[in-house]
Amino acid sequence: MPAELLAAALRGLHLPPGAGLAVVPLAATEQITLPARIRASAPRRRASFTAGRLAARTALRRAGLAEAEAPGMDADGLPVWPAGWRGSISHGGSLAAAIAAPAGTARLIGLDIERLVTPETARRLAPDVMPELPPGRSGLSLHHEVTRVFSAKEALFKALYPATRQFRAFSAAHADWLPEGMALTLAEDWGPDWAAGARFEAIQRVAADHVATILWR
Ligand SMILES: CC(C)(COP(=O)(O)OP(=O)(O)OC[C@H]1O[C@@H](n2cnc3c(N)ncnc32)[C@H](O)[C@@H]1OP(=O)(O)O)[C@@H](O)C(=O)NCCC(=O)NCCS
Repeated sequence: MPAELLAAALRGLHLPPGAGLAVVPLAATEQITLPARIRASAPRRRASFTAGRLAARTALRRAGLAEAEAPGMDADGLPVWPAGWRGSISHGGSLAAAIAAPAGTARLIGLDIERLVTPETARRLAPDVMPELPPGRSGLSLHHEVTRVFSAKEALFKALYPATRQFRAFSAAHADWLPEGMALTLAEDWGPDWAAGARFEAIQRVAADHVATILWR
């Protein structure tokens, strides 16, 4: 099962102290109360929202909040985490995942999962997603490279957006390969506290044709 395989690949990572992590299949059987704008959306969107929220609830409970409920959604579409907690939700391919951590141990946190893109899609996306990175430098095939860089940059964006509230294009950070993930360096100022040159290290794992990225500090 892809969810179990990815969850196993993510076990034992260096996460913020007190963090909880969960991976669930998109085809979740349990229902939750949906916000009105999700209720009115297509079945796949309702399923991805539900699975993401179930993953978030499990992540919070694993982190020690035994009574946690699924986070709500704010006017900007961001999850509303319990006071004193931060987290991130992602859905990609056939999976959803979430991470939650006490705000005292994680100033920012971003999680992204992506299904591996096809070789053809990788060739099309590479110039936009990784303009700074010559293809082939990792020794991996291009579709692994593009999916990993895409996922790392999305995780970075998702980690920083709650603090900056600013949209950024894929050229706004430069990626480079690390043995267990990616280094990301801001190529422009993302806000007063996040100037060009700031560097982040993202953890990555690949399992069951999905890439998972976790970025925190
Ligand atoms: C918003 C965005 C990050 C979502 O990423 P995605 O890979 O399509 O989707 P994911 O499944 O990983 O994440 C979606 C979840 O992230 C959360 N989310 C939505 N907008 C968010 C934001 N601006 N910041 C942080 N989290 C956000 C929500 O929980 C959402 O799921 P939900 O609506 O079911 O609750 C993406 O569509 C986007 O706009 N990216 C901006 C461009 C970018 O990444 N630039 C890179 C700069 S280097």
